[in-house]
Amino acid sequence: MEIWGPITPGQVAFCIGFIPVLAAWLYSELSEYWRKHTSSRLDSVDDFGAIRNGEDSKALLLEGGNIGSSMREQKSPSSTVRCFLVDKTFYSNNRLTLRAMSEFGIILVYFFICDRTNLLGDSTRNYSRDLFFFLYFLLIIVAAMTSFTIHHDKSPFSGKSVLYLNRHQTEEWKGWMQVLFVMYHYFSAKEIYNAIRIFIAAYVWMTGFGNFSYYYVRKDFSLARFCQMMWRLNFFVAFCCIVLDNHYMLYYICPMHTFFTLMVYAVLGVFNKYNERGSIIAVKIALCFLIIIAIWEIPGVFDVVWSPFAFLLSYNDPSAKTKYSPMHEWQFRAGLDRYIWIIGMIYAYYHPTVERWIEKLEEAEAKLRISIKAFVVLICLAMGYAWYEYIYKLEKYTYNKYHPYTSWIPITIYICLRNITQSFRSYSLTLFAWLGKITLETYIAQFHIWLRTGGPDEQPRKLLSLIPNYPMINYMLTTAIYIAVAHRIFQLTNMLKIVFLPSRDKRRLIYNITVGAIVLGMLYAVSLACLNVPKMLK
Ligand SMILES: *[C@@H]1O[C@H](CO)[C@@H](O)[C@H](O)[C@H]1NC(C)=O
Ligand SMILES: *[C@@H]1O[C@H](CO)[C@@H](O)[C@H](O)[C@H]1NC(C)=O
Repeated sequence: MEIWGPITPGQVAFCIGFIPVLAAWLYSELSEYWRKHTSSRLDSVDDFGAIRNGEDSKALLLEGGNIGSSMREQKSPSSTVRCFLVDKTFYSNNRLTLRAMSEFGIILVYFFICDRTNLLGDSTRNYSRDLFFFLYFLLIIVAAMTSFTIHHDKSPFSGKSVLYLNRHQTEEWKGWMQVLFVMYHYFSAKEIYNAIRIFIAAYVWMTGFGNFSYYYVRKDFSLARFCQMMWRLNFFVAFCCIVLDNHYMLYYICPMHTFFTLMVYAVLGVFNKYNERGSIIAVKIALCFLIIIAIWEIPGVFDVVWSPFAFLLSYNDPSAKTKYSPMHEWQFRAGLDRYIWIIGMIYAYYHPTVERWIEKLEEAEAKLRISIKAFVVLICLAMGYAWYEYIYKLEKYTYNKYHPYTSWIPITIYICLRNITQSFRSYSLTLFAWLGKITLETYIAQFHIWLRTGGPDEQPRKLLSLIPNYPMINYMLTTAIYIAVAHRIFQLTNMLKIVFLPSRDKRRLIYNITVGAIVLGMLYAVSLACLNVPKMLK
């Protein structure tokens, strides 16, 4: 077996952490099995309770601990002793947490095998427009036949079903785009490059929209909420970077969404007592524009602002022909969507107002209602046509120059048309909504277990091939595994989040974070030593 790329301290640390966790999990399964089959004691363990309480981990630390693992304060003084004594109840209480951690580790090992070793084959991408759209439309037909759903959610204002920018629709929208986005990579469909830029803009728009609505209404700026948000966005990608020795910017979607999410959080969090006042929100949004304009439009400012973060955000494609400066990727990627998150916040702010208009419109007499709607549709179509002719059709480099200032046009048109009638608003395709929920995972996983990068920091330029010479059957098989794994990662990320970042218990949260950081540091130090001591002895 050949391994591409050097062995890094991060990878060693991962192994040192992962093996004891795996062992502990196997032991806990065994003792659970033992308990069920030999004893008739009735101290049955509520599995889900164990997951919720996150009864974890003194043992993990003692056994070396997993990266990201942490301890919680033990409720009974005896529990420390219990794990020393390898107590069976302790293990069965934590069985589900251990299992989630082990599964997560196994998935990462699978990633490594697929993408960094020559155990599995690869093949080249090729594009056929016919096949590409055939597959996409096939999926739409399947989704329509199997998962067409009519929702009857009620508007919070009037109790009528209005459904304006609701969750089903947003997730379905993400699903539509995500399928094309990953297929664009798989088939190397260069001709839809500009459309992909729009989709990414739409995700960033949703980041602004969703997060603004959430923080504006809930006003929950707690540490727990903040950590959970960061965990959701970065937990999986962090492990991919460690295990596969990649830079964070390889998965540029993640730093980008993290940055824009942090911006929305900061905008609403600072002086949040005054958020009720429209003028304060206006000032805040104007400030956002000013900050972004200063950073991206005034030459030189970008370098000054971002140079402290170069360790996180620099990136060089090892096999690119033209060499850019390491920060170019970040400047380009985040720059493309630099305004659209602010637009998302503005839409979110006016969302209740528009919702009331729509309700009024639905109550208006038929003639007026239909003419207003027809007028809206006409305007949308005209604008859409103009945008398509004069912007979308531009060649990709020229298009990219206009993109930051024009991406709101197709997004707005989609939103208007998607909600044009009451019944149309209430339909959604659940299959796409399901895919829309796991976009982050499908985005990251595609690099390694669907496509293949074949080395640290490489872009995915090849396809993973499990069945050589049968491209379509291979496509089917790798896609099935890929989607299943992505969905599982989504679940595992959430399970572990609940265990390690409890919402209500602030002391335990801080405790977990501290211990997690210490464990990580120790693992890293040990693995550095492991790698360097043999060299020094030579
Ligand atoms: C319109 O459609 C978009 C896309 O599905 C959706 O996110 C939004 O909820 C809808 N609401 C309106 C009236 O804009
Ligand atoms: C905030 O934005 C991130 C990034 O897109 C997203 O994952 C998250 O769900 C958003 N939060 C809310 C509450 O909408």
